[in-house]
Amino acid sequence: MKIIITRDYQEMSVRAAQLVIDLIKQKPDAVLGLATGRTPIGFYQELVKAYLRREISFAKVKTFNLDEYVGVNRSSRDSFWTYMQTQLFSQVDIRQENINMLDGTASNLQDECINYERLIEDAGGIDLQLLGIGLDGHIGFCEPGTAVDKRTFVVDLTELTMQSNQETFTELKKSPSQGLTMGPATIMEARKILLIANGKNKRAIVKKALYGSVTTKVPASILQRHLDCTCVLDALASGE
Ligand code: F6R
Repeated sequence: MKIIITRDYQEMSVRAAQLVIDLIKQKPDAVLGLATGRTPIGFYQELVKAYLRREISFAKVKTFNLDEYVGVNRSSRDSFWTYMQTQLFSQVDIRQENINMLDGTASNLQDECINYERLIEDAGGIDLQLLGIGLDGHIGFCEPGTAVDKRTFVVDLTELTMQSNQETFTELKKSPSQGLTMGPATIMEARKILLIANGKNKRAIVKKALYGSVTTKVPASILQRHLDCTCVLDALASGE
């Protein structure tokens, strides 16, 4: 595991985005695994800047997002779909047909999960998976206790995750209680992993995940076993 400690949120975003910019330059048809949340907003801004500078193009890039809420329409301001369109997709030249996101309103959620795994496989697997980390160590919506061999699945969200999500909502009155998420096994198959974390409130969980024992109680700790995982932290999250 490679750990890069940066001064602040801005530098964390720039350093993390640079890894993806380099990948796209080297492999214009890269398959990216993406995340939502507060942490990657600056990271996406850096990707957009690189696109506007004509350093990279997303014309051949394919994306797969980690997760989505169950029962929330894509058109909702609080869906991960809307987040991705706003933060990245509408600002770059990605083709809509190359965007893959789980549909939390699918009539058969199990089939939706199985189909998502198939789509990832058909795309040749994920070259780089971006991850944030939840206060309880979750990655995607893989909450503590998730078996490491799980693939994309329907998950009951914990109270902590529901509360944390609630703070970001502008439309939904109540946090959805379920999500669809790639499983730890899906995530670990990505050829590269890029975890980003910032802020003092992430310090304790980052320490456990990166330096503690590998346990399903802290889902992100499994990343210690990945052969090509880079963590970009700001000073507050790293404790340095
Ligand atoms: C989002 C996701 C989550 C977040 C995590 C941290 O797609 O998969 O695991 O990365 O909850 O969220 P923020 O960045 O809001 O602290």
